[in-house]
Amino acid sequence: MRPVRTLSVIGTGYLGATHAACMAELGFRVVGVDTDPGRVTDLAAGRLPFVEPDLQPLLSRHVASGRLTFTTSVADAAAADVHFLCVGTPQLPDGPGADLSALRGAVAALTPHLSRPCLVVGKSTVPVGTAAELAETLRRDAPGARLAWSPEFLREGHAVTDTLHPDRLVFGLAGGPDDPAARADLATLRAVYRTVLDAGVPEVLADLPTAELVKTAANSFLATKISFINAMAELCEAAGADVTVLAGALALDDRIGGRFLAPGLGFGGGCLPKDIRAFAARAEELGAGAALGFLREVDAINLRRRERAAAMVLAELGDAPAGRRVAVLGAAFKPGSDDVRDSPALDVAAALHRRGVAVCVYDPEAVPAARRVRPELTYAGSVAEACAGAEVVLLATEWPQFRELDPVELAAAVARPVVVDARHALPAPRWRAAGWRHLAPGRPAGRTPVAPAA
Ligand code: UGA
Repeated sequence: MRPVRTLSVIGTGYLGATHAACMAELGFRVVGVDTDPGRVTDLAAGRLPFVEPDLQPLLSRHVASGRLTFTTSVADAAAADVHFLCVGTPQLPDGPGADLSALRGAVAALTPHLSRPCLVVGKSTVPVGTAAELAETLRRDAPGARLAWSPEFLREGHAVTDTLHPDRLVFGLAGGPDDPAARADLATLRAVYRTVLDAGVPEVLADLPTAELVKTAANSFLATKISFINAMAELCEAAGADVTVLAGALALDDRIGGRFLAPGLGFGGGCLPKDIRAFAARAEELGAGAALGFLREVDAINLRRRERAAAMVLAELGDAPAGRRVAVLGAAFKPGSDDVRDSPALDVAAALHRRGVAVCVYDPEAVPAARRVRPELTYAGSVAEACAGAEVVLLATEWPQFRELDPVELAAAVARPVVVDARHALPAPRWRAAGWRHLAPGRPAGRTPVAPAA
């Protein structure tokens, strides 16, 4: 095996920029390639164009040392021993499937430069079968290049930790254990991830389609778990029960566990929503649509949570919501990120705005991004500004600073002390003691649980 010294990372979004900086941290020379000149200028100057805790120091350090460079020219990646494909695979504008144009475009741009033996490693989330298609492209257009698939499981907000200390590394290989070329590919992957593997991270060997499926199956499972507890929230609303107590009790069963069992406004972001839709669409294409039919229900339950939060706010405003002031706390799809792709918080804010409500949105990090996608909404520079004169406060993203708000102080700023705590983030007894009407989906209004829920 030739030594692995230089890596390229094609696509420098949330996934690629993190991957590039982390690979530099592991000791490799890394060149990041992106078609967006603004993004490349920022990254090359050591400026992170999005919010991701812990990533800035890595970027600064490795850009300064010259180990990490960024370019718009894919030709600059030609000398790399390994090329990571990290471009986005968003939902198609006119259907549930994944838009693979950026991925196919990246491979088409790369292949003319692959004149020496190298390994191309897919990390983007793709419909099963994509890797086989790309392997065929490489066989035809760049015979010295091999393809492997190693999906990425990082969460935004924890991207650096998840990349350097993942739960597992999945290596999808083009060829069985007896195939010398596949064995060489595996040796190359192990060389790249030597530090991570030496720390005890489990390695899972798979064929290409299984590796692709691990990723979409994992995201589908997580989405299903969230929608399960949100379906229970719907039932709790119908039965007068408390979903936070229910979730806390379920979580104590080790077989179920409490992670991804937080009820509320449901899942959003650039991954789970589009991944379950693309997965179900791909299953249909493969003639296995019935197997994943439940994912449509998972999606529908999730979207109903947004409608429910908007309905709870509107119910407090009565028959004439137009012009009434509502503060929406949160715009990011989750705390620790400025990502507003398919953000439940922004979706609810926009739905209220469409009903004529005077919505004012505040988020500690995501206001610039939110303003770009929802310019019609009003934004505030602080919680106090957003809440001034509000008749309802909607907590839509559970930033830690919102959990710690002083309900006494805030009660003095609003027109009416009514809070819809759509993420179950606030200590209800404390807010009620401060005179607030505290409402939360899946929980009877005004009732404090006997014991605090987990
Ligand atoms: C998700 C997966 O968790 C990662 O493993 C995966 O690598 C990534 O997608 C991807 O495909 O790239 P991410 O989109 O960063 O990561 O966010 P999550 O932490 O999964 O949260 C997704 C959404 O679910 C958020 O809107 C969050 O508020 C919501 N959520 C999460 C709940 O409503 N309840 C929960 O209990 C947990």
